[in-house]
Amino acid sequence: MASPYDAIILGAGAAGLMCAAVAGQRGRSVLLVDHADAAGKKILISGGGRCNFTNLHTAPDRYVSANPHFAKSALGRYTASDFTALVERHRIAWHEKTLGQLFCDGSARQIVAMLLDECDAGRVDVALSTPFGEIGHDGAAFTVALPDRVVRAPRLVIATGGPSIPKLGATGAAYDLARRFGLKVVEPRPALVPLTLGGDEALFRTLSGVAADVVASAGKARFREAALFTHRGLSGPAILQVSSYWRPREPIGIDFVPDADRDWLLTAKRMQPRATLRRALAATLPDRLAEALAERLDLSVELGNVPDRRLDEAGRRLSDWRFTPNGSEGFAKAEVTVGGISTADLSSQTLEARRVPGLHAIGEAVDVTGWLGGYNFQWAWASGWAAAQAL
Ligand code: FDA
Repeated sequence: MASPYDAIILGAGAAGLMCAAVAGQRGRSVLLVDHADAAGKKILISGGGRCNFTNLHTAPDRYVSANPHFAKSALGRYTASDFTALVERHRIAWHEKTLGQLFCDGSARQIVAMLLDECDAGRVDVALSTPFGEIGHDGAAFTVALPDRVVRAPRLVIATGGPSIPKLGATGAAYDLARRFGLKVVEPRPALVPLTLGGDEALFRTLSGVAADVVASAGKARFREAALFTHRGLSGPAILQVSSYWRPREPIGIDFVPDADRDWLLTAKRMQPRATLRRALAATLPDRLAEALAERLDLSVELGNVPDRRLDEAGRRLSDWRFTPNGSEGFAKAEVTVGGISTADLSSQTLEARRVPGLHAIGEAVDVTGWLGGYNFQWAWASGWAAAQAL
């Protein structure tokens, strides 16, 4: 059995490609293995095909993890500016869309090509369409069974991501591997995912296609962005964001009037006593949504005829409308997975397992999940870079 490699990296996605390229360029001999027939498939479809590759506002508090401090070290050592500098070195044009989100002007394919070029520069062996089988460890080195050979290296990196979007080749392999080596796994849940409504709230599904600028909340997390009603429930950036914090059977809140002050309905009653609630709401919300909310509040008469107390109640309800989703659209539609390999078992500096020297885990496989908006790729780049320093 040949032993030509310093490191074997499982998974040629965002984190694995970055880790392989950097380790290769540091002089390590690296094998990068993936069962898919192309590298970086999630990068290719990301950001509507333009890849939202990082976020200027990257900070540890924009990540969900059982240990909110864990991501600090890697994110601090490889920043959004470092990745943007790499993108510029490859002459890839980019722009800021909104909220610090950086996208390619052209295509996500440019990011994958850039990472593969960087792997080339590091003389990385890239083995695609290569499923791995049994993984062994004899204390000194890891062995990985491939279809045509068994490879061996003193370092093994788990970069197989999370199980969201299985049709792209995503699996829970990272968790099986982690457990095999005695690492704990924080329960994986679909995140950045549309939520579904049932029962009495299913009526809102008739609003499918209607969107509004809202503040959505789950627990203490609050996001001001668009929410979209769908034929299954709720989606849009605000909902995707809160889905990462939402727990089954808990409610989420939606403020449909985020710019209104507390007494806006009483003011409206004084200024426009002949207006209905629907008309008052339609000043800032789509008419169909204004109509549905007014109906639900059973307030169809002119504001001038509604007692102040009822208007006060309606105002409070509109600024914190509670929905209790009956589920989410699951891993099939989730952009990412929250949970994953427990950070308690990993070094935040090197992403190496504390009790299994030589074993590293990076990217989405780890219990660190970013907000929507380029944060997840930045974690993939940063954790991949950090692990590469130790290979
Ligand atoms: P990633 O999933 O990229 O790579 C894992 C690799 O492991 C894959 O190549 C897979 O084939 C391979 N693999 C899995 N199991 C294996 C096995 N058993 N054997 C061999 N290989 C195996 N984020 C962001 O910041 N900005 C954005 O614009 C988007 N947009 C976006 C859109 C959509 C539709 C999705 C689904 C996701 C996003 N994301 C995103 C999230 C982002 O894609 C994700 O967080 C990163 O790709 C994670 O990088 P990893 O390298 O950890 O996993």
